[in-house]
Amino acid sequence: MRILGIETSCDETSAAVVEDGKKILSNIILSQADIHKEYGGVVPEIASRHHIENIMFVIDASLKEANLKLKDIDAVAVTQGPGLMGALMVGLSAAKAISMAKGIKIIAVNHIEAHLYANILDNKLIKYPFIGLVVSGAHSSLIYVEELGKYEILGHTIDDAAGESFDKVAKILGLPYPGGPVIDKLSKEGDKDYVVFPRPCMHDGTLNFSFSGLKTAVLYHVNKLKNKGELTHKEVRDISASFQEAVCDVLVKKSLEAANIKNVNNIVVGGGVSLNSRLREKFLLEAVEQDKFVYFPSPKLCMDNAAMIAGLAFEKNNHGFYSELDIDANPSLQIQSWMEKGSI
Ligand code: KG4
Ligand code: ZN
Repeated sequence: MRILGIETSCDETSAAVVEDGKKILSNIILSQADIHKEYGGVVPEIASRHHIENIMFVIDASLKEANLKLKDIDAVAVTQGPGLMGALMVGLSAAKAISMAKGIKIIAVNHIEAHLYANILDNKLIKYPFIGLVVSGAHSSLIYVEELGKYEILGHTIDDAAGESFDKVAKILGLPYPGGPVIDKLSKEGDKDYVVFPRPCMHDGTLNFSFSGLKTAVLYHVNKLKNKGELTHKEVRDISASFQEAVCDVLVKKSLEAANIKNVNNIVVGGGVSLNSRLREKFLLEAVEQDKFVYFPSPKLCMDNAAMIAGLAFEKNNHGFYSELDIDANPSLQIQSWMEKGSI
């Protein structure tokens, strides 16, 4: 079964063709990051307009790369949420039009769930149950995944998302958007022990995250240096590394704590922040000590992409879950179980 996936939840316009939920025939991602850079972050209205301009071109490119025509597609999958309302609506409208014109099923997918599925798409060895950590520009969640489609939310951020904190701290340091990749790069030449920034929620007895206090601590530190005229390039690198270490510390510790509470050995990480090199290194180092296995998707499947949408849609369709044409975009869609225990 060939599924055309469409993803437009934030600032990437993406279309992909995936065969039988596993074989990626194409995965075209058109990022708007350079456009939003000018504003220091994603401007929702501008994102929607660019999705409208690019969506047909991106869909055509994904079919072309897969060497297929629309008539060869068996179903269309699309991100329903969470994300930006206008941006989501562009993808949904395109998917509905294709579904209607071609008389094929439309399958709506949760973006967060798809970020976890990106790992399954990439690594067929992953076994359920596992702890899922989704860390992106808008979400930080710890999820117990008992089996495909069966979820229990263990913790989430109570303020800023992990990726959002990277973006905000980059802005404080005068670095461009998106902040994550820049801070990651600068940190490689910085001293992670230069400042011991707070690790909010680290020992609060919950599996929740909080990153806004950490961001404020960086802001105070930077302002102090600026007032003294001492914010040098070296300071920027050291502050980047120290901030990144604090974020990674909390993410790794809480994920391992969740794995121990649920007595599982596998941890699966997804979302844009899962590209972070220190996060990967720290996870691997600390997981080994506790006999846990940690999985990350390949770089192209970490960021927002339509292959993860089409892949998950195949599994949903296989289990009889598909959508109607009157489906709405839902900017605050929560991850929900759709598979009853024992039904696979
Ligand atoms: O999953 P994603 O592409 O989009 C959303 O669903 O939000 O994640 C984007 C986020 C941005 O905040 C970006 O700064 C962050 O992922 N990011 C990183 C890295 N690459 C992207 N954060 C830390 N280190 C990176 N290497
Ligand atoms: Zn995402």
